Amino acid sequence: MTRKITNLDTVCLSKDGGSIEIIDQTKLPGRLRVLSLSRQEDIWHAINTLQVRGAPAIGVTAALSMYLAAKNISNDQKTNGNPDHMKKERFFTRLAAAKNYLNTARPTAVNLSWATDRMEQFAIKYFEENPAKDNLTTVINTVEKMKTEALTIYDEDIATCKTIGENALSLVKKGDGLLTHCNAGKLAAIRYGTATAVMYLGHEKGYDFKIYCDETRPLMQGSRLTAFELASSGLDVTLLCDNMSASLMKTGKINAVFVGCDRVAANGDTANKIGTSLLALAAKKYGVPFYVCAPTSTIDLKCKTGDDIIIEERLPEEVTHMWFDRHMAPDNIKVYNPSFDVTDSDLITAIITEKGIINDPGKNGINI
Ligand code: MRU
Repeated sequence: MTRKITNLDTVCLSKDGGSIEIIDQTKLPGRLRVLSLSRQEDIWHAINTLQVRGAPAIGVTAALSMYLAAKNISNDQKTNGNPDHMKKERFFTRLAAAKNYLNTARPTAVNLSWATDRMEQFAIKYFEENPAKDNLTTVINTVEKMKTEALTIYDEDIATCKTIGENALSLVKKGDGLLTHCNAGKLAAIRYGTATAVMYLGHEKGYDFKIYCDETRPLMQGSRLTAFELASSGLDVTLLCDNMSASLMKTGKINAVFVGCDRVAANGDTANKIGTSLLALAAKKYGVPFYVCAPTSTIDLKCKTGDDIIIEERLPEEVTHMWFDRHMAPDNIKVYNPSFDVTDSDLITAIITEKGIINDPGKNGINI
């Protein structure tokens, strides 16, 4: 079968269970390259450099990576001469180190630490509740169950995105013009995406949406990824530059904006790709509903407001010349390059999750 974006998952475990396969998103749309990663350093690098990106896809990658780390540790333990009573402690110390290391790959998407935490907690509980004849055997059994847990996270992501799409479909009508930003699509999750799930499901049901996506400077996730994946699936998609959204909204062609999210604070503020808050401001001005699509794994009640969310700052080169043949700015110019911004909750019409729709989060907070 020809390799196509439509028949590949963004992230998956290899058939032999020894590596994670990811679509290398830094090469899209020109080249569809699949990377096979098994070393923790390579997985960290893939997340850090956005070869795999988007909050849910980062979460699934992190979960699979925790399984691979656990498998490596248990393989070491099978061959080394540590006494059995030390194996439990060493296993969990090394697993915690793998978690802490992975968590440093990117700071803003909470799905990363959510997934590594869930995997660690699962391992601790399983180990405690299922003692075998010795610690090594319990470690080996725990690792096997961690594989199942990582694959559960993967399956949950597909189901969650689909339900978000179904919930979002109740908010739109046939023929609507929908605007999205960055890539909260299939490439940011496993299938469907979050903000794009409504578009894919609507397409299947003949909703005939007119989709608009902006380029999303500086890394062009909108043009390189969203435009590519939606057009590859036969959706009607039009690309615009980041500075064109307000004028498009003013024409009345946009009936709703759907964006993804990297972290939702307890007061309903949401962090998403830089530029999201500008879209929300323009949408408010022109009376266009502004919807944030987020799996509940993206909700972080430990963050009281958006001010508590750490915003990743990235390299100046991304702005000045990374995507250009020649420099598009003077040498050594100072650059401001935050990767995300916070949209205040009062600009958000609703947050759409797999568990339901949170209307008017600015008034109601996160009530799910
Ligand atoms: O820097 P990126 O490309 O990882 O940023 C991605 C986004 O901002 C997405 O909108 C967000 O992760 C939600 S993905 C469903």
